[in-house]
Amino acid sequence: MNIQAIVLVGLGLAAAGAMAQERPGLLSSGEYTPGVLGAAQQPARVQPSEGSVYRVGKWPLYTAELAPGAGRDAVVGNCSMCHSVTYITMQPPLPPAAWQAEVHKMIAVLGAPIQPATAEEIVSYLQQHYTPQTRKP
Ligand code: HEC
Repeated sequence: MNIQAIVLVGLGLAAAGAMAQERPGLLSSGEYTPGVLGAAQQPARVQPSEGSVYRVGKWPLYTAELAPGAGRDAVVGNCSMCHSVTYITMQPPLPPAAWQAEVHKMIAVLGAPIQPATAEEIVSYLQQHYTPQTRKP
């Protein structure tokens, strides 16, 4: 490759990078905001423009924040493969045995590929944070 070709490739990459910044629907990390569950509102556009390409406001995320504590990463990592972890927080507070059964159902009936040791960690996290005695609003 001669020097002109290298310069051309470099310019092409720089142009593609600039276009990616302006492409609608693409968001960079950090352009997120927690959404209000149940609300149908979206944040307003940041810079309204006449053109077909415009920037939008921060993208709302509706996935619930799980309670901090040991085992949380195992839950987020394994229990958001098929659905969001909001499935956990939208349940009423469940007794410890119900969480045990729920995790067992995800694995045995629905096919969640979770190792037994990790499943125990997940059950104990859910029992520590999401029972009638332990759940915080
Ligand atoms: C293999 C995919 C898969 C994985 C992984 C998975 N789930 Fe589910 N989950 C489902 C499906 C499918 C449903 C809907 C089942 C139904 O409607 O009966 C569901 C439903 C639920 C519900 C709603 C109550 C119910 O039983 O329908 C809860 C709570 C839940 N999952 C928790 C979890 C937790 C906790 C984990 C992590 C241990 C997990 N899920 C991992 C597939 C999965």
